[in-house]
Amino acid sequence: LRLAVMASGEGSNFEALVEACSEGRLQGDVVVLAVNREGCGAQRRAERLGIPCQVIDHRHQPSRQALDQALIALFRAHRVDLVVMAGWMRIVTPVLIDAFPGRLVNIHPSLLPSFRGADGVGDALAAGVTLAGCTAHLVSAEVDAGTILVQAAVPVLAGDDRQRLHARIQTQEHRILPLAVSLAAQRLAQG
Ligand code: GRF
Repeated sequence: LRLAVMASGEGSNFEALVEACSEGRLQGDVVVLAVNREGCGAQRRAERLGIPCQVIDHRHQPSRQALDQALIALFRAHRVDLVVMAGWMRIVTPVLIDAFPGRLVNIHPSLLPSFRGADGVGDALAAGVTLAGCTAHLVSAEVDAGTILVQAAVPVLAGDDRQRLHARIQTQEHRILPLAVSLAAQRLAQG
């Protein structure tokens, strides 16, 4: 299974996937990382891990569709089977989604369908929920609304701020994302 990862930030989920592959918990290889920010943490991790990384800066692309086309070209060149959006902070369009039907997995830091959007952790805190979590799901045209693959819940504890709660959620993201990729691959194999 040839995997690509798309990331904008720290890249801890990217690294968790690479680790799961090297430890045999995930039958696959991360063959390429795409980032949209030069110098982001994910890019530095890729250098350390020896994984090819391509910067595709959205500011140099005329449209969201053009950004997606550049990603598709990269993934085709690397003969990618499955693409994981691991903290990709740009909205993708049907151009990318339709190029990888059932092959695009996203990780989101809330228990969907609650708290879709860019600040799932902050929105959960503001709502006063006592249970938060994360969701790995297939990507569909509606943001954070595709078929759910795996979820994990964590408690919201007294004194939590966004950072503490997010750290607790991320520990679970790192665990469920490889599981979700395996599930997505199984679904593909079953047609
Ligand atoms: C994750 O919490 C993910 O759910 C969200 O962005 C964060 C990315 O973290 N979409 P990292 O870059 O994988 O460390």
